[in-house]
Amino acid sequence: MTHRYSALSIALHWTMAVMIAGAWVLGGVLDDLVPRAWKPMVVGGHALLGFGVLALLLPRLLARRSSARATAGGAAAAAAATPDWEERLAAAMHLLLYALMLLLPLTGLVAALSGRRPFPVLGLFELQPVLAPWGLRQTVKGVHELLANLMLGLVSLHVLATLWHALVRHDGVAARMIPGLARSGG
Ligand code: HEM
Repeated sequence: MTHRYSALSIALHWTMAVMIAGAWVLGGVLDDLVPRAWKPMVVGGHALLGFGVLALLLPRLLARRSSARATAGGAAAAAAATPDWEERLAAAMHLLLYALMLLLPLTGLVAALSGRRPFPVLGLFELQPVLAPWGLRQTVKGVHELLANLMLGLVSLHVLATLWHALVRHDGVAARMIPGLARSGG
C-alpha cells in the first residue's frame, strides 16, 4: 500500500529541505570561506533561510496532520510490509528532525540577539542585541553549531534510509515523497 503525502506536504518538505541545505551551506562557509566584505550578506541570507524554515514549520505540521486524517494511518499510511520496529524508528527520526527545525532557528535567533552589535538581515530588518547583557553568545552559538551538526547527521541517515527503500526494498516508501518515482517503482 503506498499512500502518498498531500501535494502541500510534499511541496513544504522540498521547500524546507532546500532552505535547510541553503542555511547549512551559508552557515558552514561563514567563518572560513567568504571574504570579510561578503559576510553580512552571507550571514543575512543564512538567517533569512533559517527564519523561513521556522515560518513553514507550523504549516508543515498541520498539513501532515491533515494527510494523516485523510489516509487514516500516520503521516502517510505505512507500506504494508514495513515491520513495526522500522516504523517506530522512522517516527522517532522524524520527530527529532522536526525538533531540530524548531531549535536550530531559535538558537540562531538567540545567538544573533546576544551579539555585541545589531545583526542586519539583508537590509530588510535588523535584530537588536537585546540579550547581550546575559553574555550567552558563545554558549548559544556553540549549541547552535552542535544542533547544526546533528541535523547534518540525521539528514544523512534520512537520505540513506530513503535510498534503501527506493533501491533495495522497492516498497513505495520513497515514492510517497518523491514525485515521479511512483512510476519507476521506488
Ligand atoms: C535551519 C536553520 C539553520 C541552520 C541549518 C543553521 C546552520 C548553521 C551553521 C552550520 C552554522 C555554522 C556553525 C559553525 O561555525 O560551525 C551557523 C552559524 C550561525 N547561525 Fe545558523 N542555522 C540556522 C538558522 C539560523 C537562524 C534563524 C539564525 C538567526 C539569526 C542563525 C544565526 C546564526 C549565527 C549568528 C551563527 C554564527 C555566525 C558566526 O558568527 O560565525 N541561524 N548556523
